[in-house]
Amino acid sequence: GSGTPGAGAPEGCAVVLDGLRRLEYRGYDSAGIAVLDADGGLAVRKRAGKLANLVGLLEAEALPPSTTAIGHTRWATHGGPTDANAHPHVDAAGRLAVIHNGIVENFAALKAELVADGVPFTSETDTEVVAHLLAAAHERTKDLTEAMLEVCRRLEGAFTLLAVHADQPGTIVGARRNSPLVVGLGEGANYLGSDVAAFIAHTREAMELGQDQVVTITADDVAVRGFDGEPTTGRRFHVDWDAAAAEKGGFPSFMAKEIHDQPQAVADTLLGRTDATGRLVLDEMKLDESVLRSIDKIVVVACGTAAYAGQVAKYAVEHWCRIPCEVELAHEFRYRDPVVDQNTLVVAISQSGETMDTIMAVRHAREQGARVLAICNTNGSTIPRESDAALYTHAGPEIAVASTKAFLAQITACYLLGLYLAQLRGNKFADEVGDVLAQLHEMPAKVQEVLDRLEEVRALARSMADTRSVLFLGRHVGFPVAMEGALKLKELAYIHAEGFAAGELKHGPIALVEEGQPVFVVVPSPRGRDSLHAKIVSNIQEIRARGARTIAIAEDGDEAVEPYADTVLRVPQSSTLLSPLLSVVPLQVFACELATAKGLDVDQPRNLAKSVTVE
Ligand code: G6P
Repeated sequence: GSGTPGAGAPEGCAVVLDGLRRLEYRGYDSAGIAVLDADGGLAVRKRAGKLANLVGLLEAEALPPSTTAIGHTRWATHGGPTDANAHPHVDAAGRLAVIHNGIVENFAALKAELVADGVPFTSETDTEVVAHLLAAAHERTKDLTEAMLEVCRRLEGAFTLLAVHADQPGTIVGARRNSPLVVGLGEGANYLGSDVAAFIAHTREAMELGQDQVVTITADDVAVRGFDGEPTTGRRFHVDWDAAAAEKGGFPSFMAKEIHDQPQAVADTLLGRTDATGRLVLDEMKLDESVLRSIDKIVVVACGTAAYAGQVAKYAVEHWCRIPCEVELAHEFRYRDPVVDQNTLVVAISQSGETMDTIMAVRHAREQGARVLAICNTNGSTIPRESDAALYTHAGPEIAVASTKAFLAQITACYLLGLYLAQLRGNKFADEVGDVLAQLHEMPAKVQEVLDRLEEVRALARSMADTRSVLFLGRHVGFPVAMEGALKLKELAYIHAEGFAAGELKHGPIALVEEGQPVFVVVPSPRGRDSLHAKIVSNIQEIRARGARTIAIAEDGDEAVEPYADTVLRVPQSSTLLSPLLSVVPLQVFACELATAKGLDVDQPRNLAKSVTVE
């Protein structure tokens, strides 16, 4: 993030530090800041570790007052998280500083060239190459924007770059290819950030940049050019949440707050989706109805938690629409020559809209002629920009690395998509769309009920802080819920956890069950069809007989599980297809509470980053 406030505006270093604090979820293994002072000097401070380390350094060695500052929080790719590898990187003369997200893929060749010219390197990063190239280009052109344009044309790979030069106080130049960068438009101050959270405390007016663009900001001007040098402009948009939405609001962690926000996230995602006659309308989804009628296959691509939302979608969409629906991890889809054509609807689900694996899958799908619909939580991000249409989730900013409210909002959006397609295509199920919509509108209140009765799962989590391994079983939509429960526990509590399809138990996983092994079982509604419930009750008995400690997530009134479960966590009744919105919540809370009991940072688990913007 960076800012160039004008006279009387907040101090540059403070603005950038606050921005970094809001962006720290994106990466947190080192942080740094560079400022240009009034006397034409450049000063840099950087430190390995979380932002707090940098703050400590700044207390000991303050930066000079400045209105032009850039800062960075890192998730290491090239070179470990050390002080030297932290950004910003400076040129040999100490006049220019640059920060970078992404990977410069041809850095080795560029570095060899620079080394041959006698340029000294002080870090192991690909980024330092850019600092030296920019300095040389600036030497020739005497203009940072021209230098940036020149250098960007030589770089391969993915990058967001921001640079300042002591000869051009008051100017910050940014560039983006395949990596996010958004402009914040303030009054007498302009900002750049990897996402709007960086500058939301100062302005809610933003501008998205396209691929391969360079942007130059000063306190009162923003100029955009393509890498070819041609002037262009970006789309402006208003951010519909404010700084308070990106604060903890009294909760001990962002994750705790975001779990609590879930009824709102579901309700907001459902808001305004029906017309006066009660028919579902998805206005923003600008795909021709004729196109949607002609699709004969849906492929959901996503990563992590978003992919589990996709798995829930598969059950719902196939049942309601009778359109074959596959779900695939975006990185697997991209590199296996998938069969998609103009009759395929590819649905890319992403909270951030910046997951590189998913971006690459979207591009590949479009190259094959498929229509791509993005289900995304972030306005102005790359995935909706590059898709044919977008259906936005309205979960608000999600800061904790482990996704919770975005997951519920994604599932909700998938239901809307399925119901919309069923209505549009007028199949057998079309008459029931109104009923399901009505049930969907009851879900926020039911999620709230789950939240109101969490004490039991919290106590259970605290009592299990020493557990080494936890298994999760589910059938039907309970299967992706089980996998999400396991993922949460891995991410947050660093406990070995696996989610299984309960039917698969006898084909392998049951061998893992020994005395005292905790097993969560997501129990489908006894009111559902297909005797799913009876089957899972048998599964509970099978593991219990082998010593498992069984914890059932079951709906109110389901007495059949009582005799076989050591613990029953209750959720309100719902239809099976909608039940993931409820059954996943105790699992999120379990992981959050257990990690907290182990003294871990639930918002920033080790080794992870929220937006994985490299492949
Ligand atoms: C990372 C995050 C996960 C997230 C996944 C997909 O792995 O740690 O929480 O589910 O990326 O992110 P996206 O922004 O595409 O939904």
